Amino acid sequence: MTAKQQFVEIFNKYVTREGSAKLLEYLSNSDFFTAPASARFHLAEEGGLCQHSINVYNRLLKLVKADFGENYTKHFSDETLAICGLFHDVCKVNYYVTEMRNVKENGAWVSKPYYKVEERFPYGHGEKSVFIVSQYIKLTAEEAICINWHMGGFDERVKGGSYALSEAYDKYKLAVYLHLADLSASYLDEHRN
Ligand SMILES: [Fe+2]
Ligand SMILES: [Fe+2]
Repeated sequence: MTAKQQFVEIFNKYVTREGSAKLLEYLSNSDFFTAPASARFHLAEEGGLCQHSINVYNRLLKLVKADFGENYTKHFSDETLAICGLFHDVCKVNYYVTEMRNVKENGAWVSKPYYKVEERFPYGHGEKSVFIVSQYIKLTAEEAICINWHMGGFDERVKGGSYALSEAYDKYKLAVYLHLADLSASYLDEHRN
């Protein structure tokens, strides 16, 4: 099964709220299924963003099952877990471009493609994902907080001195799990270039 098929399967199984078909249509018409997960770090390759989103979803599920067992849905619904995992990095849609550069290989210069960030909608990172997803489906407060703060201490706002992150993590435990899932997927599951 391809990563796109896996993504669509999880999506169709769990994300059923009003507008979800339009959201899938938006993703299908964008570069979501071909974009890399990053320009230079984890899964900087075609399809990396889709694969990373699945990896984060799987890690998130594993984390909540480890703490709550098979009764995890008493705490977090399958739809919420799928929304947080699959869409946390939707901000990376139409975000990378491919350019060519000369690199030295075995003593000779060769032209090689590489990914570069070309931000066309500078709205931030987690907050940008929330904005985009909200154009199609209505997020719960918990889902919005989780996606908004999924970068944890790497978030630019936190680096700028904001304390809102710790308040968010204190009130919404799922936001902590999503950040841990993102870290685990990026650093434990995904190869780096
Ligand atoms: Fe992210
Ligand atoms: Fe991520």
